[in-house]
Amino acid sequence: MKPSQSIQKTLGIGLTVGVTLLWLLALSGAVYVAQNKLNQLFDSALAETAQRIMPLAVVEIINREGPQQAQQVMSFEAHDEHLVYLVRDEAGNILLQSHNADPALFNKTLLNEFSSSKTHRFYGASAVQNTLHIEVAEPLRQRREAITEMAVTLLWPLVLLIPLCFMGTWAFVRYSLRHVLAYLTAIESRGSGDLTPIKVEGLPAEIHTIAESVNHLLDRLRRAIESERSFTANSAHELRTPIATALAQIQRLQKGVSAGPIKDRMVKIETTIRDLSNLSEKLMQLAKAEGGGLFSAEQHDLMNLLRMIVDDFQRSRPEKKVTLTLPQSGAFMSSIDQDAFAILVRNLLDNALKHGAKGRPVEISFSSEGVLKVVNDSSVIPADTLAQLRQRFVRSNTAVQGLGLGLAIVDAIVSGAGATMAINSPATGRMDGVEVLVAF
Ligand SMILES: Nc1ncnc2c1ncn2[C@@H]1O[C@H](COP(=O)(O)OP(=O)(O)O)[C@@H](O)[C@H]1O
Ligand SMILES: [Mg+2]
Repeated sequence: MKPSQSIQKTLGIGLTVGVTLLWLLALSGAVYVAQNKLNQLFDSALAETAQRIMPLAVVEIINREGPQQAQQVMSFEAHDEHLVYLVRDEAGNILLQSHNADPALFNKTLLNEFSSSKTHRFYGASAVQNTLHIEVAEPLRQRREAITEMAVTLLWPLVLLIPLCFMGTWAFVRYSLRHVLAYLTAIESRGSGDLTPIKVEGLPAEIHTIAESVNHLLDRLRRAIESERSFTANSAHELRTPIATALAQIQRLQKGVSAGPIKDRMVKIETTIRDLSNLSEKLMQLAKAEGGGLFSAEQHDLMNLLRMIVDDFQRSRPEKKVTLTLPQSGAFMSSIDQDAFAILVRNLLDNALKHGAKGRPVEISFSSEGVLKVVNDSSVIPADTLAQLRQRFVRSNTAVQGLGLGLAIVDAIVSGAGATMAINSPATGRMDGVEVLVAF
């Protein structure tokens, strides 16, 4: 896949190149027009000069007493002449020349018009019935310098314009896209279970439709997941009554039957129905854990809640030994749903008692930093097995009854409530045992 381009960069470069090209185009136009105008002006000045010098030269030559020979006009003081001229008779003999005129650079033929050589521009004119001819030469260097100077002056602003245009576009695009960036952060920062619509305020029209489509998609997804969950929860709930009825019936039937193969079969049926009851209970818990609603509106003290849950658990199974350790004083307030917290604790206790070494106590504690710890004796679980235990229907200890859903339920509650869970084996500071840590 082609890596996606940033709009900021593309627009920044595109607009800068565009502006530069337009500027250069305008510059060449301006230089072209200015050059034409300048040439016209210089030419007319050149012709004017020739026509002014001519009468003076005529007077000077006619007034000469000596033979008609070349004569240089004396300069007033040494100076660098831009314009030089040559006065010749019709045969091409030089009669008069300006003080540093080099005859080699003039036209050989006598022209009565403008002409140019590589280095000079000339204007020639005749007078006194074509017996005298004047040619004025002006170096082209001056015209070229004027045009170059003008082009350079116009080119300079580009040095400023290019970075300004690029940075301006960059900043402006960033400013225009600020709502899009906010939208991006809103998507990135939300938790995995959060399928509520994303706010689309202030988005540019082009992105707005995309954002609305995303919200529609989220809505459909949420409804699909909710209907799946409510189906699981409802079916598990609906199963309760018939299972309870069947259990009651089989228990009543057993009373009227004396020990024997029929009674044994009845006991087996009773066990199966109990398993079914457990499964429906776990499915209901899983549906709750994976659904929303893991937070309650008000906060409550988890330590207090834990004490009640453990007491309750101990009362229903007095033969099991559970030791609860809580800090001397203090409370840990959290907005996690109370039922969800109870389900989490019961599943962890249930596991510790079921999979832990027989007759050994289970230690459960809650620190003032909000870490719930459940530790039990057990043989060490290999690390690769440990990593998979949170998945649904994954079990490692097959000797005891179970469904492999307990840790999956705990994991769903933990991630839905924004907590973290670690399962260690051996337990910290021990050679064996299993330790489950949940940090709220
Ligand atoms: N406290 C524990 N001590 C030892 N093993 C445990 C403990 N908790 C979980 N396990 C192991 O993790 C597996 C998965 O646990 P769980 O998902 O609750 O399923 P189940 O309890 O139904 O087997 C268990 O089969 C057991 O092997
Ligand atoms: Mg379990």
